[in-house]
Amino acid sequence: MTPGQGAENRVQEQSTVASDPYYEARRAEIAAMSDRCGPDDPIPTIEYTEQEHEVWRLVCGKLAAHHRSDAAIEYLDAAECLAIPQEGVPQLRDVSRRIESLSGFRFRSAPALVPFRQFCSGLADSAFHSTQYLRHPATPFYTADPDMLHDVIGHGNALASKRFARLYRLAGEAAERAESEAAVQFIAKVFWFTLECGLLRERGMLKAYGATIVSSYGELSHFRDAEIRPLNLKSLADVDYDISTYQKILFEADSMNQLEDIVGSFWETCDDNTIEALLAEPVC
Ligand SMILES: [Fe+2]
Repeated sequence: MTPGQGAENRVQEQSTVASDPYYEARRAEIAAMSDRCGPDDPIPTIEYTEQEHEVWRLVCGKLAAHHRSDAAIEYLDAAECLAIPQEGVPQLRDVSRRIESLSGFRFRSAPALVPFRQFCSGLADSAFHSTQYLRHPATPFYTADPDMLHDVIGHGNALASKRFARLYRLAGEAAERAESEAAVQFIAKVFWFTLECGLLRERGMLKAYGATIVSSYGELSHFRDAEIRPLNLKSLADVDYDISTYQKILFEADSMNQLEDIVGSFWETCDDNTIEALLAEPVC
């Protein structure tokens, strides 16, 4: 699927959702339960419908085959430890408990995409905001907005890895330190091109670890069609992104160690001044 087809999928998804009052009402019902849930409250229990279980089964089944060939080892090993149920939608509270036992991270229930500063405040506290509703059953392999499949299969599996969990926590702490809007936007951009859409090389093969790619059957099938650039913070600064469609440009680390060296070190030490200086550097 090409970036252009990603945009077409979004149009189809929007019209499908808008023309289905039952789905809209169901999603609003689940979102309202999340909305009533405070940060320290237990994650709500959702009685998922058979149709929602079927969407979960269908997507997990399709992704599993791709993960074996296209996902990074650190992600695959963490997913194996976490062992998210494939046969039906698990309770977010149960997955959260299991992740916490593996890496110290946990989920917080969210009604929708939360503002980046709020999202990062959670990460700094080792908490990831996750939705609990699922995408529309007519578009099981595509969603522009985060849903529970994206949040749990994409981010949850990664968060079961102590190495990825540390990167998420460092991103949150970096955003909490940042005061200028330019600094926060740059931290968000680094997050997008790494923990959402990042690639790394293993034994010469390009593999995905970013949550947006590993939770999307379409993106897993076609991420190698993008223009792939070496991971470099300065060159990443000069690329725009649109979260509503497939990325035309992606960045690859040459290993998990390099990802931690470049991005982990950046998030660990950055502030408004260092980011301003980085953005002012000439492009090589
Ligand atoms: Fe995400």
